[in-house]
Amino acid sequence: MQHDFDILIIGSGAAGLTAALHLADDFRVAVICKGPLTEGATYYAQGGVSAVLDDADSLESHVNDTLNAGAGLCRPDVVEFVVRHGPGEIQRLIDYGVPFTRNTDGDSGSAYHLTREGGHSHRRVVHAADSTGRAIETTLEGQVKRHDNITVFEHHIAVDLITQAKLGRSPDRCLGAYIMDRATGRIHAFGARCTYLATGGAGKVYLYTTNPDVATGDGIAMAWRAGCAVANMEFMQFHPTCLYHPAAKSFLITEALRGEGAHLELPDGSRFMPRFDERAELAPRDIVARAIDHEMKRLGADCLYLNISHRDADFITEHFPNVYATCMQYGIDITQRPIPIVPAAHYTCGGVVTDLAGHTSLTGLYAVGEVACTGLHGANRMASNSLLECLVFASSAAEDIRRNMPHMPPAPLLPEWDESRVTDSDEAVVVAHNWDELRRFMWDYVGIVRSTKRLQRARHRVELLRSEISEYYGNFVVTPDLIELRNLVQVAELIIRCALKRHESRGLHYTLDFPTVDDSRPPSDTIVRAGDFS
Ligand code: FAD
Ligand code: SIN
Repeated sequence: MQHDFDILIIGSGAAGLTAALHLADDFRVAVICKGPLTEGATYYAQGGVSAVLDDADSLESHVNDTLNAGAGLCRPDVVEFVVRHGPGEIQRLIDYGVPFTRNTDGDSGSAYHLTREGGHSHRRVVHAADSTGRAIETTLEGQVKRHDNITVFEHHIAVDLITQAKLGRSPDRCLGAYIMDRATGRIHAFGARCTYLATGGAGKVYLYTTNPDVATGDGIAMAWRAGCAVANMEFMQFHPTCLYHPAAKSFLITEALRGEGAHLELPDGSRFMPRFDERAELAPRDIVARAIDHEMKRLGADCLYLNISHRDADFITEHFPNVYATCMQYGIDITQRPIPIVPAAHYTCGGVVTDLAGHTSLTGLYAVGEVACTGLHGANRMASNSLLECLVFASSAAEDIRRNMPHMPPAPLLPEWDESRVTDSDEAVVVAHNWDELRRFMWDYVGIVRSTKRLQRARHRVELLRSEISEYYGNFVVTPDLIELRNLVQVAELIIRCALKRHESRGLHYTLDFPTVDDSRPPSDTIVRAGDFS
């Protein structure tokens, strides 16, 4: 049975829900999410959202800090656009009811408490203690679930986009997507006048990540298969401080701790960041993660330490209740002792290329949020600019959709998903094994420090895996694990291909074979399109 909507939104994080709320008064909106509605990176965001909210701060300063962190690759017009719209988007969240932490200091120029993070030269990160994402996501969820025009399909996973070209028709245009209901395993065609990808990032391509399980790069892979341009995939951001504990799966220790004075320390208790950058612990993330990686390798250490115990215990528990309680579960009292930390894959700076209205290179397809590459982050995203990007671009894409809806025809009758030539797999273990192998070699060969030889080795492995998975996909009934693995391997290949194309070290991409920035030519994006390689 075909489902038809005006707008098909795939993804229910900040990017997806914000657009749904903008459009639902006038259009019929479907929101698809592969788990429960709140499951995504947005829910786990800790530090906050950056925006100029203090009289002592300025738009110009936020723009400059973003450009500096982006190491020469940000698009200045995009940075200016996002920064300018930041305060308005925060106000919208406040109007929806997001309980941002208020300022108790009467002298400050902002009604809300603003914290600091790496790369920011001012306090400009608005937050809800250290669970900002949870506050935003659950507030948006409440609004969405109240709206009659929004139908939410939880536990539904998008398999692929449906395009005119795939149906052998022209001109090319996105018509919707095939979507599996996980409860039944059945795949249905969803037709829409426009489709909006908000599927988040791809941290799960690495063995160690701060990302939730849903972050398997599905939107990037689907858009790529539909012929969209993808860019800058080599810039995978590693967050410097993920909790190191055998029982803790990917728990982030927010950068706001460093903003409030926490020090990074070696096992002997000495600080090391001042040796690497004059901004010390508040240098941009690429610099801090590389310094930690360097010191860990130099000392053969399994982890380093983040120490905030010199600050008042009441201050720590008031500002970081989530980090405090979670560390306590593992027997670490952060008011008394340093926290063991390691870097982990955190944010996909590259993605589907879009313009200021979220248009991809495929008519009828928008991409917003971590799935997209807008030009805001360049070669390294500045802390707390991601949620901001989700909000600003969701608004501009929604405006564009509203304006152009009269020119967007409804989807025609779409072919049903064809399962006539596949059988049930008797080798599900292959999927689990390939998934493991992929994430491990991406960590070992395509991590914080790269080399051409390691990248070539990774390319060889990924090509083999891709052809094996593609054969498997063609012969057996698809499952959610197989859908995700097929996407992960595609995204891994894009990361490796983009990394091999960049013959310099810039921002998050550091390679031993080209250890400096190439100043001999203007900085450029690494843009790849289907057909560039088979
Ligand atoms: P997400 O919130 O990740 O949502 C993705 C959605 O897509 C989910 O609903 C998922 O189910 C759905 N989906 C994916 N694939 C499919 C599919 N095939 N079919 C159906 N649905 C699908 N940024 C900041 O600015 N400030 C912070 O403080 C901050 N802290 C962070 C802390 C952590 C631990 C992490 C992991 C990230 C943090 N980030 C932070 C980054 C930021 O949270 C994310 O970049 C942002 O939330 C992404 O939002 P999104 O809407 O694009 O995607
Ligand atoms: C953090 O709180 O450290 C994460 C902030 C971000 O990823 O922007």
